[in-house]
Amino acid sequence: MSRKDSVLITGASGEMGHGLIVRQAAAEPERPIITLDLKPLPADLSPKVHQQFHGSILDKELLASIQTEYAVDRVYHLAALLSTRSEFSPELAHKVNVEGTLNVLEFTQRQGESHGRSVIFFYPSSIAAYGLPTIAAKAAAGKVNEDEFNQPTTMYGANKLYCEHLGRYYGRHYKQLAAGPPTGKVDFRCIRFPGLISAETLPSGGTSDYAPEMIHAAAAGKPYACFVRPDTRIPFMTMPDAIDAIVRLVKCPRGSLSRTVYNIGAFAPAVAEIEDIVRGAFPKCGVITDVDEKRQRIVDSWPADVDDSAARRDWGHQPAHDLAAAFGEYLIPNIRKRYS
Ligand SMILES: NC(=O)c1ccc[n+]([C@@H]2O[C@H](COP(=O)([O-])OP(=O)(O)OC[C@H]3O[C@@H](n4cnc5c(N)ncnc54)[C@H](O)[C@@H]3O)[C@@H](O)[C@H]2O)c1
Repeated sequence: MSRKDSVLITGASGEMGHGLIVRQAAAEPERPIITLDLKPLPADLSPKVHQQFHGSILDKELLASIQTEYAVDRVYHLAALLSTRSEFSPELAHKVNVEGTLNVLEFTQRQGESHGRSVIFFYPSSIAAYGLPTIAAKAAAGKVNEDEFNQPTTMYGANKLYCEHLGRYYGRHYKQLAAGPPTGKVDFRCIRFPGLISAETLPSGGTSDYAPEMIHAAAAGKPYACFVRPDTRIPFMTMPDAIDAIVRLVKCPRGSLSRTVYNIGAFAPAVAEIEDIVRGAFPKCGVITDVDEKRQRIVDSWPADVDDSAARRDWGHQPAHDLAAAFGEYLIPNIRKRYS
């Protein structure tokens, strides 16, 4: 039992959770981290965590038992079904991604009520929240801002967009008709991430995973059939830059935040550019193009790049890795080491 202010990370055993646990444990070693995931954490991460809860965000009893044991003043809600799985099981996706998020928002509100302070709730949204109608519209749109083209074509994208609204409701308008002063305790902060590429972990079913899959396959000496056309372009970012952005947003005084949802970007290469870089580093790589028209349509509905000026202005978003640094300094050396 610990009533010390604690951090809850849901979905902690995933790609983003790995990086976040390491960073959170190093930044605030005195603050207990508790995790909730269907899967256990890998052995090297377990010592960084005060307690792991194994179970689902759909299990309200489990959330209630965490409620009684811990005073949580920050929540990173990462648990989700990613885009590809969500499209195969849309009803399950809605349950996990929407009902699960509602459960964690309710948990957060109850936490705030029990200790009387607001609780930061970080939510990772995605460029899947966009839906550009045609390739011509995508080419003409250039960098899109947060409020344009919010017509996702996928279940995952629809779930993310709705949860952005749900978070804004809890953060700014909770029970607005109730008598007396506002009672909302959720300080909702959200980043709409581009595709993320990690050197440390393998991707697990995102539709933007062609980039990390290509690099990991090349380094492992395996062939790779890329499921989108060479001219396909969406924004990407390295996982360390994504974690940096989360830390910056969460640290920022609330008064400086003009929005609840922020785009962030770093670089936006076409598939052919990624392939050229990968070939340069791993000349024997066996990349072929084998377009999956259905997945291609989804990637074509996502923007070629994002306007992240609000994040740069409000909380100083500044990725360390541009395209050259991402590959030259982070991905290629670390992924090479991993497979050597
Ligand atoms: N990786 C990316 O490129 C990317 C881009 C944009 C947004 N995001 C978002 O960031 C978050 C983390 O992504 P990731 O790449 O680490 O995904 P991931 O699939 O690696 O991790 C998700 C974790 O959630 C857990 N989980 C799934 N259902 C659960 C449930 N019902 N209860 C508890 N845990 C459950 C899984 O076991 C897994 O460990 C997700 O919300 C994702 O939508 C990721």
